[in-house]
Amino acid sequence: MTTPIIIALDFSKGSQAWDLAERLDPRRYRLKIGKELFTAAGPDLVRGLALHDFEIFLDLKFHDIPNTVAGACQAAARLGVWMVNVHASGGRAMMQAAREAVAHLPQRPLITAVTVLTSLGAADLAETGIKRKPAEQVRHLASLAQECGMDGVVCSAREAADLRKTLGAEFKLVTPGIRLPGSQPDDQQRTMTPAEALAAGADYLVVGRPVTAAADPLVALQNLENNIKSRKERK
Ligand code: C5P
Repeated sequence: MTTPIIIALDFSKGSQAWDLAERLDPRRYRLKIGKELFTAAGPDLVRGLALHDFEIFLDLKFHDIPNTVAGACQAAARLGVWMVNVHASGGRAMMQAAREAVAHLPQRPLITAVTVLTSLGAADLAETGIKRKPAEQVRHLASLAQECGMDGVVCSAREAADLRKTLGAEFKLVTPGIRLPGSQPDDQQRTMTPAEALAAGADYLVVGRPVTAAADPLVALQNLENNIKSRKERK
C-alpha cells in the first residue's frame, strides 16, 4: 500500500538516486525528481525509475507561454510520470493549455500548480508588484488553478487547512516542509510533522533531507510512518 510520503530525490547525480531507490519498495513510496537531478541525470533516469514501477512526481515547475508548457507536459507524460507541475502565476491560458495537452492520454499525469514559493515573503511579493499578503495570494492562485482544471496545488502544510476548506475534498494538496518533532528544520521556515500536515488536509507529504541525509534512510522513513500511525491510533 502506498503511503502519503513522496521522497524528494534532491541529489546531484543519478547514481545517488538509484542507490536510494534500490532500497525502496515502489508499491510503497513515490519519488520526486526536481530541477537539480533532472538537469544532471535527464529523462533517462525518470524513464528508468518509472520502468521500475515508481510513481514519479516530476517537479520542474513549468512557467512559459501556453504552447511551450503544453508541449513540456506532454513530454513529461511520455516519460510515464505520475505527477507534473506548473507555476499558477503562468496564468489561466497556460494552465488550461497544460491540462488540455494531457487530457486525452489514457494514463495522464496529475498536474499540480505551485502558488507562491515558500521562500517569498510579503516584501518579496511587493517588489514584484503583488500587493496581496502571501497567504491571500496563495488562496487567489489556488482558486484560479482549480478553475483551470489543475488537480491540486503544492503548498505549505500551514496553508493546507484553509485551502482544504475553500477548495473541497478532491483537490490534491501536496505539502513540503515536513519534519519530525525536534528534528532539524534545515532551511524550511515553518515545518509541520507528518501527522499534523495530514490532519490539516494534506494528501501527499514531500520529504527530502530527513530521509536523504539520514544515516539510515529506511529507519528515517519508518520514523515518519510511525508518526503517521500515531495519528491514526489517536483518532
Ligand atoms: O529537504 P526537504 O524535506 O526540506 O525538501 C523539500 C523538498 O520540497 C525539496 O525538493 C524542495 O525543492 C521542495 N519544495 C519546498 N518548498 C516548496 C516547494 C517545493 O521545499 N514551496
